[in-house]
Amino acid sequence: MKSLIILLFLILNSLFFSGYTKGQDKKRDFSVEVDSVLRLMTLEEKVGQMIQYSNNRLNTGPAINTNNVTEEVRTGRVGSVFNVLSVEHTRQYQDLAMQSRLKIPLLFGLDVVHGMKTTFPIPLAEAASFDLALMEKAAEISAAETSAYGIHWSFAPMVDISRDARWGRVMEGAGEDPWYGSQVAKARVKGFQGDSYEDRKTIMACAKHFAAYGAVVAGKDYSEADISENTLHNIYLPPFKAAVDAGVATLMNGFNEINGIPATAHKGLQRELLKQEWGFDGFVVSDWGSVSEIATHGMAKDNKEAAKLAVLAGCDMDMESMSYERNLVDLVNEGQLDIRFINDAVKRILTKKFELGLFDDPYGYTYRSNEIDDENIVSSYRTVARDIAVKSIVLLKNQQEVLPINPNVQKIALVGPLNKSRKDMLGSWVAVGTEDGVISVYEGLRTALPDVEITYIEGYDLETNELKTLPETDHFDLVIVAVGERAQESGEAKSKVDINVHKNQQQLVKTLKEESTSPVVTLLMGGRPLVFSDMEPLSDAILMTWWLGTEAGNAIADVLTGKHNPSGKLPMTFPKYIGQCPIYYGHKNTGRPWQPDNRYVTGYMDETVLPAYPFGFGLSYTDFEIGKPKTDRETYEMGDTVQVTVDVKNTGTRLGTETVQLYLRDMVSSVTRPVLELCGIQQVALSCGEEKRITFTLTTNDLGFYAAENKFVVEPGQFKLFAGNSSDNLESSSFELID
Ligand code: BGC
Repeated sequence: MKSLIILLFLILNSLFFSGYTKGQDKKRDFSVEVDSVLRLMTLEEKVGQMIQYSNNRLNTGPAINTNNVTEEVRTGRVGSVFNVLSVEHTRQYQDLAMQSRLKIPLLFGLDVVHGMKTTFPIPLAEAASFDLALMEKAAEISAAETSAYGIHWSFAPMVDISRDARWGRVMEGAGEDPWYGSQVAKARVKGFQGDSYEDRKTIMACAKHFAAYGAVVAGKDYSEADISENTLHNIYLPPFKAAVDAGVATLMNGFNEINGIPATAHKGLQRELLKQEWGFDGFVVSDWGSVSEIATHGMAKDNKEAAKLAVLAGCDMDMESMSYERNLVDLVNEGQLDIRFINDAVKRILTKKFELGLFDDPYGYTYRSNEIDDENIVSSYRTVARDIAVKSIVLLKNQQEVLPINPNVQKIALVGPLNKSRKDMLGSWVAVGTEDGVISVYEGLRTALPDVEITYIEGYDLETNELKTLPETDHFDLVIVAVGERAQESGEAKSKVDINVHKNQQQLVKTLKEESTSPVVTLLMGGRPLVFSDMEPLSDAILMTWWLGTEAGNAIADVLTGKHNPSGKLPMTFPKYIGQCPIYYGHKNTGRPWQPDNRYVTGYMDETVLPAYPFGFGLSYTDFEIGKPKTDRETYEMGDTVQVTVDVKNTGTRLGTETVQLYLRDMVSSVTRPVLELCGIQQVALSCGEEKRITFTLTTNDLGFYAAENKFVVEPGQFKLFAGNSSDNLESSSFELID
């Protein structure tokens, strides 16, 4: 018997490595190949495939795994290693895997959240560009760069809807809107994965964190999400469904619990909804240590029970917690866990290894490392990085058209250490990008304005925020001051109770305004919506510049000088007061909708409910007029398409791009619906005086929602449509849907 198995193994092995199984076509059905490998595997080897370790040299979470990872790989007890940062190193690990009995190749993963070496703007900033094609391109480039490092798998996109700016991880996603979040999820998945893995320039994406991590109570990271089923289905799940429909290879579950059940142990979400109902055929990886945390949440008495619950729930791979490694074999041998669950998980993981072509050539992703430093390639990536960085900038205020910088300006004071910081421009979740490659604001502006005298003034200490003595700023024609967050202030474990721009920084802006006769332009930096009521009235112009990555300085200079007319729009509402959080445009009407000067309405007694800047807001150096949305009919039947036309005119004096936003309101429904729901965006570039008619096409399905018992319904009745360039600047019309 033993010799028969070895013979079969040798035959299969030679088939895999002879190129017989052309493994690159991810649409191909590999079930025969997968089954034949599975039959050769011992229980220990199967469990090994379900284990993922961080390379011991780099931890992106609390160090848990105490194993000697290299030895575990050599003995076939590991399916994936992450945080391995070079081709040489991936090769070393793969060499070890090739010494194991079955030579099953390893998968290498990494958090490529906004670029590998070329760092793109943080995802929330990219989302502000509202340019889906460009976001797809950025993910495609990230994949090309990542794969050149020998890595097959990015733990991105993060598709958590985020409505509370106190939560540090809002920087990783696409903001507050479920429809837009779904479009961005699709674009990023397509960008990472392409149509096939054939040329090994595409990699697996991972939609995370399934699910509702963005709903953690009061914005506290890792906290519980306590939301209705209706909110879960209508708000938090759509981007995951969109990612699955776009063919995402993997999902990561979350640290949070949802209505009493830790996401990692959530059978209803993972096994039933995701795998059965949505037909997801990829695999689910846990978040860092989240399997053992099921016990900490209080749902399992120990790691063994946690491991069992996670497997039953459909969590196929254990990142770091060692719970699978220590318990799954025993659980199966003791009859506590049916081997079918293990087989299902292993098949899913092996299928991805086949699709990536790793059985064909385990080193398939290691031959392009020469591209990493190829100047032509790097510079073509940087061109795209600059383009998207430029388009991510949002102009929040521009009094007396102080921007773009007037050509007569001779002397500029550039105030604030963020103007010289390269590191902070990279933001949080940087893969291998380093500050060496970054263009600072100071450098970008120097290059853009070679004839202007630019004087750098520190203004405050970057580490302590202590104010520094200011020189006379009177003789400058323009003051540009950079304030906001440093890179380490948003991201994982970076939730805050105070999202105000630091009081000293706001004081600096005030002082500059008071002590100088020249206009003050504020560059606001950070990974989340910030509150800055004190300095807002004292800034003549404000640009939200987020963290824009490698090309930050050039991009900011492009917008300041008018080389590019700003076109970014806010993907998250900016609150006026922290007490307004969570705040989002798509709220419910309530029985007592807010009205000014009325006491018994939905709101606060001390301050307004209105935000500082609404979702979708962003100015341009030109003006646009957007007409009413016009439908091609007044009445539609189920299954019809609704054609909506909107006239857009550039009424200003410059060429510019406007993002026309189409919103919807279902006036009467079996479950209440938001006062506004984004359902379409279109970007139009218009020269001055130019006018265009744009068309949106909706299907009646676009009018549906999840109602009672989480059933998707499209209900007849009256609908309102709204078009405009911000969620608070809209023209409307109505139509009816009949049965
Ligand atoms: C984060 C994930 C990330 C993982 C691996 C966790 O702490 O929540 O988003 O992919 O670490 O770095």
